[in-house]
Amino acid sequence: MNILIIGSGGREHALAWKVKQSPVLDKLFCMPGNPGTAEIAENIELDISDFDALVRFAKKQDIGLTIIGPENPLVDGIVDRFSAEGLVAFGPTKFAAQLEGSKSFSKDLMQANNIPTAKYAIFTELDAAKDYILKNKKYPLVLKADGLAAGKGVLICTDEKEALDGLNMIMADKSFGDAGNKLVIEEFLDGDELSLFVLCDGENYRILPAAQDHKKVGEGDTGKNTGGMGAYAPAPLATSALLKNVEENVIKKTLQAMKNLGHPYRGLLYVGIIIEDGIAYVLEYNCRFGDPETQAILPLVKSDLVPFFKACATGSLKNLTLEFEEKCAMDVVLTSGGYPGSYEKNFEITGLDQISNGCLLFHAGTKLSNGKIITSGGRVVNLVSTGSSFAECMENVYEEIEKIQFEKMYFRRDIGFKVLEKEGL
Ligand code: AMP
Ligand code: GLY
Repeated sequence: MNILIIGSGGREHALAWKVKQSPVLDKLFCMPGNPGTAEIAENIELDISDFDALVRFAKKQDIGLTIIGPENPLVDGIVDRFSAEGLVAFGPTKFAAQLEGSKSFSKDLMQANNIPTAKYAIFTELDAAKDYILKNKKYPLVLKADGLAAGKGVLICTDEKEALDGLNMIMADKSFGDAGNKLVIEEFLDGDELSLFVLCDGENYRILPAAQDHKKVGEGDTGKNTGGMGAYAPAPLATSALLKNVEENVIKKTLQAMKNLGHPYRGLLYVGIIIEDGIAYVLEYNCRFGDPETQAILPLVKSDLVPFFKACATGSLKNLTLEFEEKCAMDVVLTSGGYPGSYEKNFEITGLDQISNGCLLFHAGTKLSNGKIITSGGRVVNLVSTGSSFAECMENVYEEIEKIQFEKMYFRRDIGFKVLEKEGL
């Protein structure tokens, strides 16, 4: 089977690495891909928002399965379009992708189905939202632009001034464009976060090992929010009791709710969980694999995932058993200094060919220029180590990182610090 992966980040390189091992694969294409995927697949330069061109390409290359990495094409209906053309694509339909594409849609769905989530209110008028903020006494308060905002549309406000500034930013200045036409204001929850990835075929599901992301740029979880500075899996926080609880109170209810709406959820459901006082609340849904969690999770999957992706798309997950390695994995993201704010690009990266010790290297913001790999984004490369303990993973991954160099390189030296503290290390 010929397979196409859409996207260009570390997540897509990890997906390509996993799919490349499938015995049913003939030819692998990545669109647009990156210098890492170019080593294992054919990269295709096409605008991924041009669905006509994508369909033409998929038909011409006899693509049997398309895997979509980022949220934008999903929210814009790529799966509907591919299905209408008789092409198999892994991911939710445009309607179902609203679970990520519209925070008000997902909050209302959770409330209507008794899925635990933070208390909230939805506003379409700035004045009403302002009144609500002026009456609010409890801080921090969380403001969320309704639509997609490249991970930047969530503001945690510590006082009234910050909340009013945030409100103006989202609804008056439209800093996130149309994503700010609606606003969700919700209570702040305090606790540890988990990312749970669930393969869904509309009715049946399989849960991948739970991961913990590190969203803050600074060590000890300080500073600005980023796309994610590192991740590890399986997260010990996800005890079997917690997972059972999330299965019953979140996953089953969400799939049933989508089915009841006439739009069964097929694809990867990313459930962002926060655990406050022992209770698991849903912070958000995403309609795709997360980055960087995917880079830590996929090395733990023993089974060939291609049949699972196909089964999700065609509603036939029921008879498939998903197997995992008895290992743990840790991913550290090397970034351009300054990220998530402004940063310089086009620095040569050296040492990428020196990585050993079983460590995996996944490219993200890199580019090939005159035969050299140079930096081209905020998150540059991921280094992933697997081992029998988190301490082993950590030792290995940081040792390998020493081999990589580029100007202004920055990474967190404490990925996994929470789990190591718990392991008493
Ligand atoms: P979201 O895009 O909704 O996941 O929000 C991004 C990040 O903001 C989450 O991963 C949390 O770290 C934080 N966040 C969002 N909502 C809340 C909340 N109600 N309470 C505390 N933190 C939150
Ligand atoms: N790691 C967070 C995300 O992919 O949304």
